[in-house]
Amino acid sequence: MTRRLLIAGNWKMHGTSGALAFFADPGINRTYAGIDRLICPPATLLRAATEAASATGVMIGGQDCHAQAGGAHTGDVSAEMLADAGASHVIVGHSERRADHGERDATVKAKAEAALRAGLTPIVCVGESRADREAGREFDVVGEQLAGSWPDGGTGDTVVIAYEPVWAIGTGLTASIGDIDAMHAFIREARGGDQSLRILYGGSVKPANSGDILGRPEVDGALIGGASLTAESFAAICLAA
Ligand code: G3P
Repeated sequence: MTRRLLIAGNWKMHGTSGALAFFADPGINRTYAGIDRLICPPATLLRAATEAASATGVMIGGQDCHAQAGGAHTGDVSAEMLADAGASHVIVGHSERRADHGERDATVKAKAEAALRAGLTPIVCVGESRADREAGREFDVVGEQLAGSWPDGGTGDTVVIAYEPVWAIGTGLTASIGDIDAMHAFIREARGGDQSLRILYGGSVKPANSGDILGRPEVDGALIGGASLTAESFAAICLAA
């Protein structure tokens, strides 16, 4: 089965309104055959990004959502609010949320279920720490995160998984191709061999390494941090795909 590549940018806590010039760049404002593109800007830019991206074919996503549709949760944003602002996807369980906000698998699962209820595609992040890998526990850790974070009712068509080894995020280090192949195959196997499930790789993906990574049969796209912040590097990765 051929799965369409999803090239997704996670802008994290970067960008004010000037960043929306990204969508006017010729490298972004053009078509790319056979791939889907997604940018997840900060929540403050969601509505404006949806409008700025409307003619480009780039989809817009949130970086997190609350598990409830509404209520007394100061500072939080619900999946319904993201959808109302024009989002089609939302990242949940990113390792920075797990580290900075103490999010555990059960919370990630509840958030992914909230995303599905709101009609969004959750991008569920999993990945081991450096200590886990050095201890040879990477498959145990990722398997546990996957089982604990997968939303009830989710299918390979409605959920995306992002494998992001924590030690490769923002460090310039990437997992070896062999390690990526092995983990992506493990994740698919853990999901019953579901051929429709898209499994993205994230962790220091850049124009220079994206061709090799995205060329692997088990890699269905990338979740890109730093290199998604400029139109030039994001477009170069889309071209490599
Ligand atoms: O979600 C993307 C991510 O955490 C990877 O970041 O900067 O290493 O591409 P970066």
